[in-house]
Amino acid sequence: MTSRPGPRTPPRTWTSSGLAYTATYTPGRKDAHFEQLHPRARAGRFARKPWHTLHHSEDDDQAAGSPSNPTGGAPARPRPDTGDPAAALAAGVASGIASREPLTGGKMAETVERVTFNNGSIAVRKVVHEPVEADMEVLTSWLGRTIGARVPAVHQTGPTEIYMELVPGVPAAQVFTSRAEAEPLITSPEGLKIGLLDILANNRDRNYGNWLVHQGRLSGGIDHSVIDRSPPDKDRRTGQTRPGSGAKSMFAAYWFAGLNASFVADWKDHPLDPADIDRWLHDLDAGQARFTDRGYDDWFAGIRARLYALRDHAKGPSS
Ligand SMILES: Nc1ncnc2c1ncn2[C@@H]1O[C@H](COP(=O)(O)OP(=O)(O)O)[C@@H](O)[C@H]1O
Ligand SMILES: [Mg+2]
Repeated sequence: MTSRPGPRTPPRTWTSSGLAYTATYTPGRKDAHFEQLHPRARAGRFARKPWHTLHHSEDDDQAAGSPSNPTGGAPARPRPDTGDPAAALAAGVASGIASREPLTGGKMAETVERVTFNNGSIAVRKVVHEPVEADMEVLTSWLGRTIGARVPAVHQTGPTEIYMELVPGVPAAQVFTSRAEAEPLITSPEGLKIGLLDILANNRDRNYGNWLVHQGRLSGGIDHSVIDRSPPDKDRRTGQTRPGSGAKSMFAAYWFAGLNASFVADWKDHPLDPADIDRWLHDLDAGQARFTDRGYDDWFAGIRARLYALRDHAKGPSS
């Protein structure tokens, strides 16, 4: 990368709250009211059971957010082989498929099926039409897990074939009949993180079939193959890049002030800690080769610029 937007902040230890707040939503209002949680309440709220069904490890908890690391993100120490969900998927694939069960409900992919491997583990196999769709699944999963959003790990086995962790639960479309019913999950900490992912990646396909509900909670976001990979707008100072099409995600509204005079969503201040965003910026830069190797420099620049814009508005503890 030749020019980096804004100052580069080195990685450091952080103890911030990140997404550890409650969000309350008043119907009819576009914005949400955020309330910081006391650290103890925070620990309780984030003391969740592992959601990964495939070889869960403590590291997975860290990737998805946990009491010790509420905002999640890449673990500080290297992952042992046994705790790496992508390695577990690869081991399953290597053992061969014992049985398959179609997963219906999607409209785009060629094949989506739940598979049981000969080694006993289970996963979802998805075959898409174009290699770019598989690239988007791989890279958006990586991005989501980097910021601690609940999205399945993905293992690619061919230009259009991926395997991913099975997310427990059923699509939200089977649970809710209206947006009002879904609102508590959309504004839950998990929902707000999915919103962040959609905003950063410019995900254009977060419909009610593409997030799952398990035991009353949002258990994971899936189907990241329809992404707007436009570069960030170049006429603006980096750091003030406009939100992109991901702003239309049902999970995104709470990060924006609503439509401005040009009918474009505007960033607004939010309670994320800038220290958390600095860490994500660092992790994103460390993973840049994943994007450039596949030819997605423009998309990467957009993701980074939107993350930097979010940092500009972060009013958390260390701001
Ligand atoms: N990782 C997963 N875990 C659990 N169920 C999944 C997963 N991926 C897909 N599904 C199921 O398969 C359906 C279709 O998958 P999806 O990726 O949305 O395909 P499409 O691109 O065709 O919409 C989903 O609505 C969901 O029910
Ligand atoms: Mg779908």
